[in-house]
Amino acid sequence: MKVYYSSAALIIAWLAVLGCIQAVTLEVKEGNSTCIKAELSASFSITYNTSSSTRTVQFPLPDSTTVDTASSSCGTEESSPVANLTLQYNLSDTSTFPDANSSVVITVVSASVGISATRNTTYHCVSPSTFAVGGATVTFSDMRLEAKHMQGRSDQHYSSTYHCRNNNNRSSSPHPPGTPERGSYFVNNGNGTLCLMAQMGLQLNFTYFSRSQNKTVQELLNLTPNLTTSSGSCEASSASLVLTQGQITTLNFTFTLNSTSKKYHLSGITLLADRADATAPISASNSSLDYLRSTLGRSYMCNAEQTLAVVPSFSLNTFRLQVQPFQVTTDQFDTAEECQMDQDLMLIPIIVGAALAGLVLIVLIAYLIGRKRSHAGYQTI
Ligand SMILES: *[C@@H]1O[C@H](CO)[C@@H](O)[C@H](O)[C@H]1NC(C)=O
Ligand SMILES: *[C@@H]1O[C@H](CO)[C@@H](O)[C@H](O)[C@H]1NC(C)=O
Ligand SMILES: *[C@@H]1O[C@H](CO)[C@@H](O)[C@H](O)[C@H]1NC(C)=O
Ligand SMILES: *[C@@H]1O[C@H](CO)[C@@H](O)[C@H](O)[C@H]1NC(C)=O
Ligand SMILES: *[C@@H]1O[C@H](CO)[C@@H](O)[C@H](O)[C@H]1NC(C)=O
Ligand SMILES: *[C@@H]1O[C@H](CO)[C@@H](O)[C@H](O)[C@H]1NC(C)=O
Ligand SMILES: *[C@@H]1O[C@H](CO)[C@@H](O)[C@H](O)[C@H]1NC(C)=O
Ligand SMILES: *[C@@H]1O[C@H](CO)[C@@H](O)[C@H](O)[C@H]1NC(C)=O
Ligand SMILES: *[C@@H]1O[C@H](CO)[C@@H](O)[C@H](O)[C@H]1NC(C)=O
Ligand SMILES: *[C@@H]1O[C@H](CO)[C@@H](O)[C@H](O)[C@H]1NC(C)=O
Ligand SMILES: *[C@@H]1O[C@H](CO)[C@@H](O)[C@H](O)[C@H]1NC(C)=O
Ligand SMILES: *[C@@H]1O[C@H](CO)[C@@H](O)[C@H](O)[C@H]1NC(C)=O
Repeated sequence: MKVYYSSAALIIAWLAVLGCIQAVTLEVKEGNSTCIKAELSASFSITYNTSSSTRTVQFPLPDSTTVDTASSSCGTEESSPVANLTLQYNLSDTSTFPDANSSVVITVVSASVGISATRNTTYHCVSPSTFAVGGATVTFSDMRLEAKHMQGRSDQHYSSTYHCRNNNNRSSSPHPPGTPERGSYFVNNGNGTLCLMAQMGLQLNFTYFSRSQNKTVQELLNLTPNLTTSSGSCEASSASLVLTQGQITTLNFTFTLNSTSKKYHLSGITLLADRADATAPISASNSSLDYLRSTLGRSYMCNAEQTLAVVPSFSLNTFRLQVQPFQVTTDQFDTAEECQMDQDLMLIPIIVGAALAGLVLIVLIAYLIGRKRSHAGYQTI
């Protein structure tokens, strides 16, 4: 097994002796000076194929780990900070991967793992941080990484230390992603005519079982419009909008039209997502929903945040939404029917206005009564 960081590469050779989890110290040298020094504990979770199914093994980085001097290098002065993580393992090591049905060496690369030891600084991360690398996950803990200037003395220590962003336990307090950006999505039918339009910001809220944490975790994922592609289809009484972000997340919205009542609604949502850390691909579907109700020839609009519950493990938060899935004639939305929440928001100024009018009336009446009283009182004297 090898773990290495590029571009100044630190390569850790795998010796098939498993020890208990403990910190190891590793150095990359060029001549007599050390350019990278790493102290870390790591544990791995790797899924591989057996002849009948797949199996997941978990094991720590053995304390007999050494630096693979042949492949490690100090990089150049210009080279970028540690950017990606490469994991290499040899499936023919049957003591680690029993019953593996192949004996190839697997190499998986994960870009931008967020570890950044620039030169003359120290990267320090006490809390465990988990990185998904292909079908494997690597959890580093108590990690200290120093990238030194080549001429620096090997015992030199640097005062500037970069702490990892998630030095607080990230599994218990994930950083909320904020309001999603609003995207515009279009569907053309077979002959290339625009038949469905939607504008919305989308936030997925789902749970899955995490391999590395051995528990169910919650994830909020915002769709990024310029990384999302749209497709779909339009039929006489149903239309679907399929949004795909990368190769990993697919959302399918199905709208149904009742041609008798000339009303339509969002009747189904399907989510498919891949998480390297999930025990299985995430799949959630409900085809008997009743959301976003509107009338044929009109669009549906909801500026307020709306939560569309799909299944217990998945809901969708929509922001600034407008959609027209039927009878699209131009590239402009037809008159909108607004959601109750927007109408309630508009009611507030009216209520305030009405309350002010009431107040004016009360003051005025009080004034008139007061005047009448004092006038009357004046008369009795
Ligand atoms: C790893 O990172 C280096 C530097 O950032 C980059 O040049 C290289 O292409 C990356 N490797 C992969 C496989 O992404
Ligand atoms: C490394 O150190 C040894 C002895 O301490 C010395 O003989 C050798 O020249 C040094 N090599 C370099 C490249 O500095
Ligand atoms: C396991 O088998 C599937 C095909 O069934 C293949 O796509 C996948 O790459 C294999 N995984 C490994 C780690 O060999
Ligand atoms: C290993 O098993 C998987 C299914 O578990 C299969 O898809 C794959 O082709 C097998 N690989 C070899 C080399 O037999
Ligand atoms: C993988 O392990 C097998 C058996 O231990 C060994 O023969 C083979 O050379 C190894 N492959 C690599 C690329 O290290
Ligand atoms: C790192 O420190 C050395 C001297 O300690 C200095 O010569 C070098 O320019 C520094 N490098 C960077 C990237 O700051
Ligand atoms: C495209 O097909 C739709 C029905 O699928 C039809 O209503 C429309 O007139 C067609 N448009 C053109 C330009 O052929
Ligand atoms: C995500 O879903 C969970 C469980 O349904 C819920 O408790 C939580 O408030 C939701 N978070 C957001 C931001 O919608
Ligand atoms: C996962 O957690 C369960 C109980 O919560 C425990 O029995 C099991 O041993 C754990 N598995 C691993 C691999 O830690
Ligand atoms: C996405 O759009 C934002 C601004 O709208 C831009 O800064 C960013 O570079 C874009 N990303 C990609 C991958 O195109
Ligand atoms: C989306 O859902 C609809 C209705 O279930 C289905 O007909 C359509 O094939 C789905 N599209 C994709 C790309 O899965
Ligand atoms: C369509 O609407 C009519 C009138 O509201 C209703 O009676 C009928 O059951 C609806 N059809 C479907 C398929 O929901």
